[in-house]
Amino acid sequence: MKIALSNDHGGTQLKVIISDYLKKFNYEIINLGTDTIVSVDYPDYAYKVAQLFKKECIDFGILVCGSGIGISIAANRYSHIRAALCNDIKSCELSRLHNDANILVLGGRIIKHNIALQCVDKFLSTEFEGGRHINRIDKLSNPPLL
Ligand code: RB5
Repeated sequence: MKIALSNDHGGTQLKVIISDYLKKFNYEIINLGTDTIVSVDYPDYAYKVAQLFKKECIDFGILVCGSGIGISIAANRYSHIRAALCNDIKSCELSRLHNDANILVLGGRIIKHNIALQCVDKFLSTEFEGGRHINRIDKLSNPPLL
């Protein structure tokens, strides 16, 4: 499974923890985030993952900024992205079951590191339920013109 990680300076510490954790398993990790705590702009780091989703066959993305809010807003500006900001395990599960989320977003300054790793596990191991949710997912990709 190929997973792209990306983050701004508010997410560097948690990104490294997640990356080290995932490398112990059979995941191919692509790191697109900053590796320092020097201030950067979170949209740039969301857009990198959105672009890779378009170009390559990535299975999932994981984004981290300080709160998780800015980077999730940025990622969700693309219709092929369903980025779910989840700082608890149940939300991670539901984001896959019901929303077929393709990016997990975490708040590096919000979530405890051990919970974050459990969130990652849950996100990567839960399948989309399909059924009644398919129509709803399709509507996300095709919003009405306003
Ligand atoms: C950066 O200081 C911080 O604003 C950013 O990481 C994020 O929390 C934005 O939503």
